[in-house]
Amino acid sequence: MRYRPLGRTGLTVSEIGFGCASYWGLARFDESQALGLVHRALDLGVTLFDTAPGYSRGEAEPRLGRALKGRDTANLVIATKAGTFHAGGGRTGRDFSSAAITASVEASLKRLGLERLSLVQLHGPGVGELTDDLFEALERLRARGLVAAFGANSFDAEVIGAVIAAPVFDVVMLDYNVLRPERGPLIAQAARMGKGVLAGMPLAMGHVDGQIRKVRGLRDLWYAARALKNHRAEVVAAERFSFLRQIEGMSAAQASLAYVLENPGVSAAVTGTTRRAHLEANAAASGMVLPDQVRARLRAAQGG
Ligand SMILES: NC(=O)c1ccc[n+]([C@@H]2O[C@H](COP(=O)([O-])OP(=O)(O)OC[C@H]3O[C@@H](n4cnc5c(N)ncnc54)[C@H](OP(=O)(O)O)[C@@H]3O)[C@@H](O)[C@H]2O)c1
Repeated sequence: MRYRPLGRTGLTVSEIGFGCASYWGLARFDESQALGLVHRALDLGVTLFDTAPGYSRGEAEPRLGRALKGRDTANLVIATKAGTFHAGGGRTGRDFSSAAITASVEASLKRLGLERLSLVQLHGPGVGELTDDLFEALERLRARGLVAAFGANSFDAEVIGAVIAAPVFDVVMLDYNVLRPERGPLIAQAARMGKGVLAGMPLAMGHVDGQIRKVRGLRDLWYAARALKNHRAEVVAAERFSFLRQIEGMSAAQASLAYVLENPGVSAAVTGTTRRAHLEANAAASGMVLPDQVRARLRAAQGG
């Protein structure tokens, strides 16, 4: 596993992070398998774990806490979010007031069993929610020693630009994968400003690998249903990249990760998985280099 600085935070992260979200966090996914994946990730040298209070109906964060119990977390970067939460019945609530963000961080520390969070990211804020009052609350949390670094997770270019420009933020998490080359200039801008960049959804939620057609069990049905409900455009767009499934010595997922990581502004690619073989393949992608002809085909498929 290779490691990169997380911008100017002084933190170092494994190039491949583990996303503690989605099906991984749900109670219906076997607890010992879920914890086993985190432990295997640690064995493979993964040091970045990304979660949120609202992920997996509120189950992901406490599950990550259980997985880390008794482990040495000193060199890990445990990242969570604030501003959204599970509001019951599968609905997501949102509150970016300074009081709510402060309470959210305090509750996350308890659920994760930590005294200090490496990174807290605002989860999908609007530009209008990035107020001076909120920034002061974040600085107070930092001054109390509860949080080492702050960031924001957004897929909206205007918000991402505002986050890059705001001194309170050390990190930005955006959607970057073969379907999103247009994020390149924002990543370069973030890197110039000394911000760490985390690529969420680096596998376009598995669609570069034709995830929706591989129904091997309940979890695949769950991912397919999510795709049909929320991400039809990505499913269709990913078919332009089906040639990634035929590279010798590299799976489509590994090629996708290699694409994301060849951008020097990216600190880490955060992938979610429920399968040990996928986790191991994703970890092995650290250090892989895209063949030149694949990169050329990628550019052509991206239309540039
Ligand atoms: N999705 C969002 O809206 C979002 C938003 C903000 C942040 N994030 C962060 O980004 C992380 C990743 O997001 P994500 O889970 O939506 O997308 P992702 O990591 O791009 O894709 C996960 C999907 O890819 C499959 N997969 C993983 N490794 C694979 C491999 N080697 N080969 C084939 N398929 C593979 C998974 O299925 P298997 O279980 O079968 O491996 C799952 O269906 C999250 O865990 C979270 O920390 C996500």
